[in-house]
Order: sequence, then C-alpha cells, then structure tokens
Amino acid sequence: MKKDEILKALLKNEKYRLNYHLMPAKGLLNDPNGLVEKNGIYYVFYQWNDKECAHGAKKWGLYTSTDLINWEIKEIALSPDEWYETHGCYSGSGIVVEDRINLIYTGNVKNEKDERESYQCLAVENNDGTFKKLGPIIDKIPKGYTEHFRDPKVWKENENYYMVIGAQSENLLGEVLLYTSKDFKNWELVGSIYNKNDMGYMIECPDLFKLNNSTILSYSPQGLEPQGDLYNNIFQSGYVVGNINYSTGDSSWGNFIELDRGFDFYAPQTFLDSNGRRIMYAWMGLEETNHPTMAEEGWVHALTMPRELILLDNKIIQQPLEEMKNLRESKVSYENLLLENKLILENVNGDSYELIVEFENTGNNCFGINLRKSEKEELTIKFENEKLILNRDKTPFLDGSRACKIEGTKHKLHIFMDKSSVEIFYNNGAEVFSSRVFSSQDAKGIEFFSNSEILLKKIEFYKLGKFSYSV
Ligand code: FRU
Repeated sequence: MKKDEILKALLKNEKYRLNYHLMPAKGLLNDPNGLVEKNGIYYVFYQWNDKECAHGAKKWGLYTSTDLINWEIKEIALSPDEWYETHGCYSGSGIVVEDRINLIYTGNVKNEKDERESYQCLAVENNDGTFKKLGPIIDKIPKGYTEHFRDPKVWKENENYYMVIGAQSENLLGEVLLYTSKDFKNWELVGSIYNKNDMGYMIECPDLFKLNNSTILSYSPQGLEPQGDLYNNIFQSGYVVGNINYSTGDSSWGNFIELDRGFDFYAPQTFLDSNGRRIMYAWMGLEETNHPTMAEEGWVHALTMPRELILLDNKIIQQPLEEMKNLRESKVSYENLLLENKLILENVNGDSYELIVEFENTGNNCFGINLRKSEKEELTIKFENEKLILNRDKTPFLDGSRACKIEGTKHKLHIFMDKSSVEIFYNNGAEVFSSRVFSSQDAKGIEFFSNSEILLKKIEFYKLGKFSYSV
C-alpha cells in the first residue's frame, strides 16, 4: 500500500477502528519493530502483511511522530524482494549509527525443498528516509541450533555493539544467543545467555536492557503449558532479572514473570528515548485469532499503547506515558462515594476514555466494574478472592477470563478503553491486562458493583480523543 491509500483507510469511520492505538490500514499487523528515537522523532516500524488478514511475506510498515499523538505515515520501509528474504522481512530492531537509522532484521526464506532459512540482515537509512538493504550480516546458524533463529535486537554498550537473537536448539528447546561487534559489520557469537531448558520449544523476540542497574532479559517463549492463572494464552511474553558477563555470555537469571495478564499481548520490544525513558510497545494480539474486523473492515490487530518501564523491588512496573494525557478532552471526577450493590454515574460512560478508580476498605468482598455495558453485554474487571479477574464472557465474539493474584487493601485501576481494545493498569502498573473487545456500538455503560459496602475513594474519568494522521 502507498501512503495516501494508508491515510484514506485509517481515516475511514469504521465500527472497530481504534482512536489512539497504532493499527494497520488494511491486512495484518503483528510485532513492533525497529523502535528508535532520532532527533526528536519517534519511529515505530511494525510487521505488516498489507495484502490480507493473514501471516505471510511480511513487510515493515512505519509511522513516525514527535509527540506520540500526531503521526506521519511513511512509505513501507522494507519489502521482501531479495534472495535472502523471499518469505518475509521478519522482526528486528533499530539503532542510530552515525546519525542514520540502521535496521537489523531477519530475512525469512523457504527454499525449494520447503525448508526454512534464516538470515540476519542490515538496512541503512538513506538521505531521503528510505532504506538501503546491505544484505546478511549473519548468514550461518551456529552449530547446535535449528533455522528457527530470528528477531535480532541490537544495542551499544561500552563502545561495543551487542545483539540478542531468539533461537531453538537441536533438542527443540528455546534459547537466546548473544553476538557482539566492534564495528557493526563483523559479528561474533559470544554464546547462549538463556538455556535453562524451561522456556518451551522456541524463544522469539528477545530484548536485553538495563533498568536502574539491573539487567533485564525479556522474550516471548512458545510452548509453555498453562499453570493455574499463568500461561493461558497460546504464547507468552515476560522477563527475567539477572546478571550477564558480556565477554563470556555467562549469566544467571531469576524467575520468569509474565509482562501482561490479559488475552492479547505478544512480542514486546523496548527502546530508550532521549528523556532516558525505557519505553515498550507490544503486539496487542496473538496467533490464531478470528476478529470481526477481518471480515467487516479488512484489518486485524494493533500495537499496545507505549508504556514506560520502571523496576521496583526487582519487578517491572508499566506506566502509560505522560503524552497520553494530551488525548484528554473532558473530565468528570468524584471523591469518597460509598458503593453498595450497584452504581452508575452521570457522564461516566463511552467507548474511548480513561478511567481511574481507587477502591478502599474492601475487605474480602467481591467488587469491580462492568465496562461496555448494555442490556445484554458487559466486560467485567473485578476483585475476588485475592485475584484481579478480567472476563469477556458477556461480550460478542470473544469469551473467557484471565486472572492474577493481588495483595493488600488499596486497589487502583487505571483503564484505557479504546473502541475495540482495553488496557487496565493495576496499582500504578504492577500488573497490566491488555485485551481486544468487540462490544456493540451501543454498549457504552459503566457500572460499579460490590457485594458489600466499600469506599470509592477517587474516580476520575476523561473522554479521550484520537490520533491524527498525515502523509
Ligand atoms: C513473532 C514473530 C517473530 C517473527 C515475526 C514474523 O510474532 O513470529 O518471531 O520474526 O513474528 O512476522
């Protein structure tokens, strides 16, 4: 698709189109790629099949912005047209080297024998903002690994460049490999930095970064079995905190913690912006979905909102970026309301809003909020038996619930509803639930409920506006 067509499709007034999330104009979007800030401009590339709502020979689409609200649509940055990427310019990352964005990505090939080949490739920004492909910089799979070898994430530290790559060992176990380079051209394998053999049959989209002074390795494992409330989606995304020796690759890591508790979250990627914020975007979707946007509007999936990552007591907390406040259009607020049974508040409803609620003195009660409520529908977020639970059973098209354990008596929900998506931040981002939801257009109610008297200490409600797009 050319950028004028992209603009036209994004501006269509369609039922499920999102107001303030990046989404594909047509076809299928998956992973965020190549996230960088250069000279005050944020670059958000994404995996894109612009031809149909299915996986296939992926391209890299691109949106840019100076404020993360007003977006410029760019021409497609990478399309698979070389021998080393015949079946897709797969995921990868970006880094600014000598004032040019360098993209390192996986060239995915299915050869004549229908076997996979994987090449880690480089493309460098031209003066006009297009990208020049320089071909593979790693063209061999290291001994002991299969061709499921992809998603390079690069960074620079202490005058050296580093790269982590998602891999599968010949024993069919997920691992992460570390490479290093002094000149950004010649790359050497350091070794495997995650090989505990407890992360399924493949690890995709690794990322390695520092928060405070701790090293975080995040990744998306495939093949974890559900364990109670954990790992209930088809694939997972999470992180471990630990230590690594960059010269030898020796590392030690703590337990794997899921980054999101909702239904739709995968393949997150982070970058550091010029304000020193570690910002994460993820694919707000997963494999094997059948969303009504596919048949009705010809597009599927979106990126999450950008979130700032902070490390607190060795755990990542995620917070909506300050910039999102610029979407606020009107405010309604309440303090110290007693909630018993059910409560509906004037001017607190809609399908594009931010809602902040602080509950207190809650004891062991069951309480929560029904969002997107109509006579027949509701999307429920509730506290029950020391768990926070999101339930989609009473929404069209989708069902099921997701839950996580919580503690304490002060509970704050910060909810971002955007037409066909919801992101719920619990206690300043200690937990987040991200989900798509395809409520009917008239399902806009918000109902607070509790099985016994509790205090709604604070309620703030803002109608949220839309991103603007230009070419
Ligand atoms: C993750 C992923 C990556 C791959 C890309 C292809 O969703 O499978 O491993 O590079 O998507 O689109």
